[in-house]
Amino acid sequence: MAEKNIVETSEAQIAVHWGEEEFYHPTPEFVGQANLTDNAIFERFSLDNFPECFNEYAELLSWDKYWDQTLDTSDAPCFKWFVGGRLNASYNCIDRHLEKNKNKTAIHFVPELEEERIDHITYQELYVRVNEMAALLRDFAGLKTGDRVTIHMPMSAELPITMLACARLGVIHSVVFGGFSASACADRIVDSQSRVLLTMDAYYRSGKLLNHKAAADEACALARKEGQTVDKVLVWQRYPGKMSSETPLVEGRDFVVNDKLKEFYGARVEPVSMKAEDPLFLMYTSGTTGKPKGCQHGTGGYLAYVTAMSKYVQDIHPEDVYWCMADIGWITGHSFIVYGPLSLCASTVIYEGVPTYPDAGRSWRIAQALDVNIFHTAPTAIRALRKIGPEEPHKYQFKFKHMTTVGEPIEPEVWKWYFNVVGKGQAAIVDTWWQTETGGFLCSTLPGIKPMKPGSAGPAVPGIHPIIYDEEGNEIKRGEGRAGNICIQNPWPGQFQTVWGDRERFVKTYFARYNTKPDSKDWRDWPYLTGDAAMEAEDGYFRILGRIDDVINVSGHRLGTKEIESAALVVDEVAEAAVVPVAHEIKGKEPDLYIALKPGFEASNDLAQKISDAVCTEIGKIAKPRRVWIVPDMPKTRSGKIMRRVLGAISNKGDVGNVMTLANPDVVDAIKDLVESD
Ligand code: PRX
Repeated sequence: MAEKNIVETSEAQIAVHWGEEEFYHPTPEFVGQANLTDNAIFERFSLDNFPECFNEYAELLSWDKYWDQTLDTSDAPCFKWFVGGRLNASYNCIDRHLEKNKNKTAIHFVPELEEERIDHITYQELYVRVNEMAALLRDFAGLKTGDRVTIHMPMSAELPITMLACARLGVIHSVVFGGFSASACADRIVDSQSRVLLTMDAYYRSGKLLNHKAAADEACALARKEGQTVDKVLVWQRYPGKMSSETPLVEGRDFVVNDKLKEFYGARVEPVSMKAEDPLFLMYTSGTTGKPKGCQHGTGGYLAYVTAMSKYVQDIHPEDVYWCMADIGWITGHSFIVYGPLSLCASTVIYEGVPTYPDAGRSWRIAQALDVNIFHTAPTAIRALRKIGPEEPHKYQFKFKHMTTVGEPIEPEVWKWYFNVVGKGQAAIVDTWWQTETGGFLCSTLPGIKPMKPGSAGPAVPGIHPIIYDEEGNEIKRGEGRAGNICIQNPWPGQFQTVWGDRERFVKTYFARYNTKPDSKDWRDWPYLTGDAAMEAEDGYFRILGRIDDVINVSGHRLGTKEIESAALVVDEVAEAAVVPVAHEIKGKEPDLYIALKPGFEASNDLAQKISDAVCTEIGKIAKPRRVWIVPDMPKTRSGKIMRRVLGAISNKGDVGNVMTLANPDVVDAIKDLVESD
């Protein structure tokens, strides 16, 4: 067995534990219209029918060539799905809908400023714009199948247009969350070896027009230092025909997409017929070590899986108006704003700004205006909306049939507000547990079949077979009342294919822990380690308790503690940095940053601010520490390891336990005094 878990504090250890709740049942009205109401799906997707059961999902797509083999395990644990099959993701999300639905809205783009009109893009219009953009990327930017492109764009209709144009050509897109810093963007440019960067001049956030183009210049400069030259920066304009950023264009490198596109008006690009296992995109995510991992998702498996999840768990029908409030820069947006809903010919809503701008009623006004009937968001947003406008939803005429929560555990009290007030007691709720790596859901109730249980993600979705192991690799059975490391026993089509350029890291991080036969080609030998702690109740519902590794879940987004620590170490005065998760009313968790200075330096507010700023510059505002505590020394074991468990307990006002075995037990009281006196 691989090395034991040596992490000393984890989210799971400080997770909020709540009691078991009663079941809630979906309304007959919901069940009557649901895409899936037949329990037999669980039988069809039992392990006995693995892997062929997943053909049912692949059949939701349009294939250029049908596959010969459902699952190829010859390069385990890099599994290949639907081998021999050929298809194009852009074709599946656009072209195949034209015959019947070309005049249907594909994308509703909602600008943050309420005085600006909502833009409604039909499938025909999407087809035209994606084709023109694909022509530009191919003929002007020189991109070809297999190249990688970094896209650092805000929420806009142009973002999925760019992604789908890449997919049409078989160009692998790597979308970087718009709120990430230039430095984070540069890391991803370098790792994916992108020589083209797509950006936008500006976008609105909380009523301010932010200069986004500036980040592109900085990212290119940083990437260049690391040896990766970006030779073209393609800049979309927030207001076509006008530059909204003061940052000038760099001659010969930067081009305005909206201008260049004029040369391609009317162009059509034949979708490239891709192998099912060809990569569709990279999505970087935080891991235990400093460097984010490029999760590589394939074309056929990923698209089949997200289409099925959108149909059966999100219950999307072509006539639905579906609004997922996540950002496309995260996996949720890729799978459940872009690929899943468009593959099913739904109308998907893209909102530029913050849900509470300019007031707590904004989200509900959007829902009312567009007659949204499926709503999808994270507990963080639900907590915020509940806090600032608990009665707001009553004031607007909208009716959701279905609502999703994703990204972090949701407290039963918050769940009940979501159900009663936002869902008006009529919407079915699905709590979806999954990860960047998994492409789509792992656990969730099937809304037309299984009742909901507040605070529990639910049973595994069809075809996913979780198993909970203890530290020694023994199985923890359902109903035992103990938590352990939740793994998935079998591969599934949405599972990422590898870590971009680092197969060894892929195997080590996700499989080594419980794999006993490293040369095995049998999928049964490769349980996938999710990195979460979980508990399975007697009824087969899973409760996710949090990460077992050094990853903090802030507002439903993953941040590596090592990432934040290395950002702090950029500041000259800093000798050591340690990050621990601390519970937060709205965000779920926040990073608390402990710092020990090099000899000769004094703690000060200015220095604390400088360290906090460094974290924002290196990663982005999302990683901003709650507090920077400059301490006399870190609590350490005799072998010199920082005891994050002790710091975590202090930050969360918990019990620090026995600290007498530490090399420097006295420092614990000093740190406690500092934090408690605040
Ligand atoms: O710890 C779990 C938590 O978020 C992690 C995955 O984060 P990320 O890759 O950024 O993907 C977020 C969107 C899927 C998981 O390892 N998590 C995700 N969904 C839930 C959750 N924790 C509890 N309940 C959930 N529904």
